[in-house]
Amino acid sequence: MSININVLYTRDTQAIFWNNNQSAIQRMFDYDYVIGREKPSVACIVSPTATDKFDKFFFGADEVMVPLFRNTAEAKRKFPKADVLLNFASFRTAYDVTMEALELGGFSSIMITAEGIPERLARKMNATARSKNVTVIGPATVGAIVPGAFKIANVGGTIENIINSKLHRAGSCGLVTRSGGLFNELSNIISINADGIAEGVAIGGDRFVGSVFIENMLRMEQNPQVKYLVLLGEVGGTEEYKVIDAVKNGLIKKPVIGWCIGTIAQHFSTGVQFGHAGASANADRETAVSKNKTMAEAGIYVPTSFNDLPKIINEIYTNLKNSGVISEVIEPKLRELPKSQKKKNFVCTISDDRGDEATYAGFPISSLATPETGKGIGDVISLLWFKKRYPKWATDFIETVIKTVADHGPAVSGAHNAKVTARAGKSVVESLVTGLLTIGPRFGGAIDDAAKYFKYGFDNNLSPKEFLEYMKKQGIPIPGIGHRIKSLKNPDKRVEGLKKFASQYFPQTPLLDYAIQIELLTTSKKENLILNVDGTIGILMVDMWRALGYSEEEINEFISSGTLNAFFIAGRTIGFIGHVLDEKRLQMPMYRHPFDDIIYDVQVADEI
Ligand code: ACO
Ligand code: LMR
Repeated sequence: MSININVLYTRDTQAIFWNNNQSAIQRMFDYDYVIGREKPSVACIVSPTATDKFDKFFFGADEVMVPLFRNTAEAKRKFPKADVLLNFASFRTAYDVTMEALELGGFSSIMITAEGIPERLARKMNATARSKNVTVIGPATVGAIVPGAFKIANVGGTIENIINSKLHRAGSCGLVTRSGGLFNELSNIISINADGIAEGVAIGGDRFVGSVFIENMLRMEQNPQVKYLVLLGEVGGTEEYKVIDAVKNGLIKKPVIGWCIGTIAQHFSTGVQFGHAGASANADRETAVSKNKTMAEAGIYVPTSFNDLPKIINEIYTNLKNSGVISEVIEPKLRELPKSQKKKNFVCTISDDRGDEATYAGFPISSLATPETGKGIGDVISLLWFKKRYPKWATDFIETVIKTVADHGPAVSGAHNAKVTARAGKSVVESLVTGLLTIGPRFGGAIDDAAKYFKYGFDNNLSPKEFLEYMKKQGIPIPGIGHRIKSLKNPDKRVEGLKKFASQYFPQTPLLDYAIQIELLTTSKKENLILNVDGTIGILMVDMWRALGYSEEEINEFISSGTLNAFFIAGRTIGFIGHVLDEKRLQMPMYRHPFDDIIYDVQVADEI
């Protein structure tokens, strides 16, 4: 992770956005698009109640998919480089979300928007962050911005406001405020009276906020893009005094313009609580008047009133410009947001037919289809089903599976159905689907469940005996075990072929080795309770995916979505079509099942 400690954010910064606050996220995407960022600034969203896997946002005219996760740990695991957490949880949850992120690590800054986090918790949270060197912005803030690089959520308002306030590119001011509303106001004033800001942070209005003025200003002191600083403090607290000390002892050398709002408080006889939780003077030192006076004494440029602030900003800026410290901003070319943005109804992540030639996961069909490409159906499946190029041993295995299950004669459930349908005069596709519809837990469709249960036993270190007991409790025949005609005496050559392939080409086959131990037990009870072709395929696919580096979560998802049965479906389609064409070629008449093959056990009705 690259953390540039002199700059809060860069053009590469990516955030994890906690809470699917769609309008705020869309504003970030609009900003990203307009300033010409390559990657959107939000990598993914944590939405604890999400049932979807992604949400869509506009990036210019296009819609982009942003992954949704139900917890921060998963989001961080998938996007380790996203080192900013934008914590938009409510005040009830924000503390836990921040503490979890601090525990997980890998975040350089965390912004917390919630107002009213209990002060005891806020102090603990801020202390933990400080001990881990994580910059916390907030709580109770709209956030921060590094113009032209990264903007948090709603800072700066609409894109029109942003451009008007010159927040689309870096200026030369480092701005710190407490309030978000005044942050926007100040950005605007600075854009009119100077060249805009280089970095700005609204530290938040709560009494205990994470990073305080001084921490942000010391970073800005080191940031070469920042040429002078504007501090907008307020009545209450003593944070401004740390800045005063830093100016006095030379830690801050850049010119500082400062003003504390709330000078009106002196005209009230009792203490006044302004809008923010922290905005109340508990001692003389905490009044705005006293802070403004001490700032001025320390050499900070303090206007006579808030109304004079623009004038001072303009003076300091003009001086710095005239003396060559600030140079003219070169206005970047901005992208314009399209007038109309059309929401798309469908998403496709596997193939694209819009160019000259359609592609499979990015590969033109011609790069795979013809013999000289050296690619086979295993490559096509790995691209279209898994969006990856598998190594040769894996694509060869997929092809071996497809060829192995292509047909098993006319008597099996599916082929029989397809034949009967074809003989009823139905089309190829109609006859085919009747065959396919027989694929299920007993016939050809036990592959996913075989993978699921054997994987469960293996992952939980169940001994073969324990596994059998476990399956007995489930109350179903062990998927992948047993065959109508194949047995120890009449072994299934297909299974032998697949095992042989695996022993030659797989790096290792731990799940198959486990299943073979179980088969020893089942066949000792009954000799047809062999590891069947479904079981062998399911188990070896898990071994293959593990060897290819898939995570357990990804493998479980393949299994639960029915991916493994799909290998049988794809392969057996070839055979079923063969049987249907056979019927058509032979012009077989309609089939009627013979009476003598049916037990008729129908009650005789009583006389009416
Ligand atoms: N696990 C444990 N015991 C089993 C299993 C099994 N998978 N399959 C059968 N048995 C037992 C039965 O409980 C029964 O025991 P019993 O004689 O003590 O009552 C005995 O074996 C015979 O049961 P049947 O249902 O008559 O077995 P049949 O030979 O007809 O079943 C079948 C074959 C349907 C494949 C069965 O073994 C099964 O359901 N297996 C699991 C599903 C499966 O893997 N299907 C894919 C098969 S391969 C393919 O279709 C391409
Ligand atoms: C098949 O592949 O169809 C068979 O294993 C099923 C069967 O009954 O032979």
